Amino acid sequence: MNVAVFSTKSYDRDYLNRFNQKNGLELVYFEAQLNINTAALADGSKAICVFVNDDLSAVVLDKLHALGVELIALRCAGFNNVDLKRAAELNIDVVRVPAYSPRAVAEHAVALMLTANRKTHKAYNRVREHNFSLENLVGFDMLGKTVGVIGTGKIGDAFCRIMLGFGCRVLAFDVYENEELKKIGVQYSDVNTLFAESDILSLHCPLTPETRHIIRGETIAKMKDGVMIVNTSRGALIHTRDTIHALKKGKIGHLAIDVYEQEEELFFRDLSNEIIQDDEIARLISFPNVLITAHQGFFTQEALSQIAQTTINNISEFMDGAELTNRISE
Ligand code: NAI
Repeated sequence: MNVAVFSTKSYDRDYLNRFNQKNGLELVYFEAQLNINTAALADGSKAICVFVNDDLSAVVLDKLHALGVELIALRCAGFNNVDLKRAAELNIDVVRVPAYSPRAVAEHAVALMLTANRKTHKAYNRVREHNFSLENLVGFDMLGKTVGVIGTGKIGDAFCRIMLGFGCRVLAFDVYENEELKKIGVQYSDVNTLFAESDILSLHCPLTPETRHIIRGETIAKMKDGVMIVNTSRGALIHTRDTIHALKKGKIGHLAIDVYEQEEELFFRDLSNEIIQDDEIARLISFPNVLITAHQGFFTQEALSQIAQTTINNISEFMDGAELTNRISE
């Protein structure tokens, strides 16, 4: 029985093939994103495998059901792109990879923060052009700075520990306080204190109705002048237009993001020969103090291995009629 695997790049195929050697699943790879126009590619597959930006809305699920699909295996933790209610009505099981290397994302947030601060990306280009000048490359010491962390789950926890190692004061806000972090020196506060006192703010909470646009004009106004904002979580935590406004005014000193509100149309693709229609990303790219990566926080050997291994196990459990360990429901 074939498994149609959507949105695959060479690295997905490499890692899935490696972990499929023992299981021998018949994986059929497609580069296409899953949507209503590409769903027909699942014809002949009882199980399909998808990623973060694939469309699993009700209309696509109906089409998949008509083709005989009974399992959707997500190669990610988040499932905001799946209509779980409709999937349950159609008896389609949905499984995911609940956790994979929180350090990968936390370390990428640190990489963004240090690059934005010390401007190593600019220095690299300058030196390649034999420009050895230091003009405009001045940064600041991390030691003693206040770093505000919103969301201290798996990734936020890892990020806090790295920041403590840098000698920073770490302030945190979460709906649940992490006692282990408190023991090693993280201070919890209300979100307004965190906004007011942080030199650097890093977002590690999920995207929910409560956290959507947690960074917007009104909350940016509460922050220190010249604050650095780092977002490796979900694009819509940040109100892009308000952020552009604050960058133009100099209120935000640095913005370093791995996720973007409208990333579905852009990320994971080579658009270097295209005219970008999204004026907001184009404006962000134009600022000298904005650093953008295209959702690569998860992109380490360890995380890719864990994603592939769990995905192969998830699909194999289904094929064997076993209990689905990582099944998700409404
Ligand atoms: P987690 O579930 O372990 O932690 C999330 C934390 O946020 C929890 O402690 C939760 O209590 C807290 N939280 C929930 N609602 C909140 C609110 N309203 N205000 C403050 N805190 C709140 O999740 P994990 O694994 O740490 O992942 C965090 C996020 O990172 C994910 O939701 C995802 O959006 C993002 N992510 C990004 C990746 C990338 O490649 N850039 C890869 C994987 C995850």
